[in-house]
Amino acid sequence: MEFFATSTAPERQRTDCAIVGVYDRGVLSESAAQLDQRTGGRIARLVKKGDLRGKTGDVLVLSDLTGASCERIAVIGLGSKSGFTRKQYRRALTTALTAIGKTGAGDAVSYLSLETVSDADSYALARTAGEIAGLSAYRIPDHKTSNRRPKSTLKRFGVAAASRADRGNVERGLEHARGIVAGMSVMRDLANQPANVCTPTYLANAAKALARDHRSIRVRILNEADCRKLKMGSFLSVTAGTEEPARLIVLEYYGSERSKAPVVLVGKGVTFDTGGISLKPPPAMDEMKFDMSGAASVLGTFKAVAELELPVNVVGVVPACENMPGGRATKPGDIVKSMSGQTIEVLNTDAEGRLILCDAITYARRFKPDTLIDIATLTGACVIALGNHLSGLFSNNEALSAELVEAGKRAEDRAWQLPVGEEYAEGLKSNFADFANVAGREGGAITAACFLAKFTDGLKWAHLDVAGTAYQSGAQKSSTGRPVPLLVDYLINK
Ligand code: BES
Ligand code: MN
Ligand code: ZN
Repeated sequence: MEFFATSTAPERQRTDCAIVGVYDRGVLSESAAQLDQRTGGRIARLVKKGDLRGKTGDVLVLSDLTGASCERIAVIGLGSKSGFTRKQYRRALTTALTAIGKTGAGDAVSYLSLETVSDADSYALARTAGEIAGLSAYRIPDHKTSNRRPKSTLKRFGVAAASRADRGNVERGLEHARGIVAGMSVMRDLANQPANVCTPTYLANAAKALARDHRSIRVRILNEADCRKLKMGSFLSVTAGTEEPARLIVLEYYGSERSKAPVVLVGKGVTFDTGGISLKPPPAMDEMKFDMSGAASVLGTFKAVAELELPVNVVGVVPACENMPGGRATKPGDIVKSMSGQTIEVLNTDAEGRLILCDAITYARRFKPDTLIDIATLTGACVIALGNHLSGLFSNNEALSAELVEAGKRAEDRAWQLPVGEEYAEGLKSNFADFANVAGREGGAITAACFLAKFTDGLKWAHLDVAGTAYQSGAQKSSTGRPVPLLVDYLINK
């Protein structure tokens, strides 16, 4: 989708749909009043008849207009005018884009006033708007042979700037939205595929495709023999039960001087997690196709960074494999040796994410990271702790965790910090190896982070547990594209 900023008045804008708002109790916004006047009072009449009260979620699409240059007007309820927030703005625009999606409009322009929003600036609001419009055109790459949802007709989306001076901010917000939407779409397309399509090889091919599309991205794919040479005994122990070959995907993007230490993103790429010999129960096991969301978020972030040509250096390390039971599968009690040299007693083969991440983190040291961030659908315990709204954030560096919390707020893709510490790591004690891969049930998201912390000595490190945020369950089952917005915002502000 193409985005643009505009300072043309609503009645003179040539568009398939102008979006304007009405506040609580039918109070017309400035742009609604302007269009109302030009169209012979059509909006005010409908408000008077009680067709639109101005509550958030209310929407009317008017057509057959005379007096204005637009084909349609989407009139949206905005809610209360005093202290109008970014959240209301987001809801109003989401309503508008849903309604416009049911029409054949090829373009739309939002006249929701940016300056009346109390808690965000034009840059942030334009970015929000662009993300909503861009994602409204997203379609799951489904395998339906009939009843397919038609493609979106919306190809262009504009945001009206409050003033000429503000236009640059709106343009910058829309430009960043373009990158973020592209990145989220890459992530969602990968994560929404079933595990018999999205295999480790498929992820590796997706990475190669990124490198083909963007000269700024380099890719290297390591196979199992390469990983054996690197002594990645922990990663290889997870893939032992499957026929499907594992891959270690390495991406590099240099937008800044080569000498500058990169941000390294490590993404969990378990393309299907059965639990292994510690088999998961059947209900909702299909959702474990999303267990490669961390990996997909790394590829998505690379897409966004390359689209935006950000002046940063980023390296991606993605261990990709299946976790299956089988004749050669790792058994509870087996002891494996990680690339770091530390030995691990695998008490539960379903705690496999940490086993592949630890070797990927050790491998990542060769890039001398300025910062290392791993992203993983790591624990069900994190979903119990934080639900589906915020990602879990763990770090050994307070400044880094503060930066990521702020990035999450700006990107409307929030994370909440949880502790990592010696007290919690005690549960990982083992009689037979350096430590075990699981502790007790309590604080499961934290003990998982403590396991990873055993491999991050001397690194500035953060871990994002996105088990609750990377995908939605139920009727709306689908990848969300998170935490791509958070990661891209972090890199924009780096
Ligand atoms: N992929 C799962 C975590 C998960 C669970 C993600 C639910 C999304 C929704 C992970 O590999 C796992 O199985 N973790 C175990 C760890 C336990 C065995 C210590 C869990 O959370 O139950
Ligand atoms: Mn598991
Ligand atoms: Zn898993």
